[in-house]
Amino acid sequence: MRKKIVAGNWKMNKTFSEADELVSDIMDKLEQIELDRNVQVIVCPPFPYLEMCTDYANDSYFAVGAQNVSDQERGAYTGEVSAEMLKSLELVDYCIVGHSERRAYYGETDAIVAAKVNQLLAHEITPIVCCGEVLEEREANRQFDVVRRQITDGLFHLTPEQFNGIVIAYEPVWAIGTGKTATPEQAQEMHAFIRNLINEKYGENIAQETTILYGGSCKPSNAKELFANPDVDGGLIGGASLKADDFIAIAQAF
Ligand code: 13P
Repeated sequence: MRKKIVAGNWKMNKTFSEADELVSDIMDKLEQIELDRNVQVIVCPPFPYLEMCTDYANDSYFAVGAQNVSDQERGAYTGEVSAEMLKSLELVDYCIVGHSERRAYYGETDAIVAAKVNQLLAHEITPIVCCGEVLEEREANRQFDVVRRQITDGLFHLTPEQFNGIVIAYEPVWAIGTGKTATPEQAQEMHAFIRNLINEKYGENIAQETTILYGGSCKPSNAKELFANPDVDGGLIGGASLKADDFIAIAQAF
């Protein structure tokens, strides 16, 4: 059975003490509830808080991810953080790649996404690879072409062994931070499309094993109906992951 994931992308929010309070709040609440053993809760804090968050990581529900990684191995790349560095923190198990904000503001192309994925896999960190169309693309009914290109150019250079274990997050850009969520039907339609692409490339087994998350204004009030879809395996949560109550309520929505 494929893993269910609720991952919080904190983006560029919180001071150190606020972040410490949030993660300890999340841990307290996780201890009080019973989650399905198949559910993984991940927080993705800014780089300076990763190590603090890994202090809470354990082998049960909770894991830590980074929000970005360099496409280079090491060397003179001022300001960059390598996959090797993340790995050396020992309990950073995931990393978001190709988020639409990085594509839009920092020129992250599919080729860069592919290089980052390679770096992460070389250091045994699971990439959470984001894809999704902007509003004009959906209005022009081009969402499937856009997502096909992002998945093909960002991931399909991988061998089946490498691809197995990749996490994908479908985040329609028009739904991010806007309060406008994709309908459960729109999410299911795209998730099934992505799973079918994987099936065509890597076969049924790997397609069925791949966790595909939805992201974009996911909150406690809509998580249940989104996660109820057969191809929606959880969420990548922005705004609602900054409040422990909301984040945990989403994790309980399966
Ligand atoms: P929101 O949940 O704030 O819409 O953000 C989604 C997102 O970008 C997660 O990566």
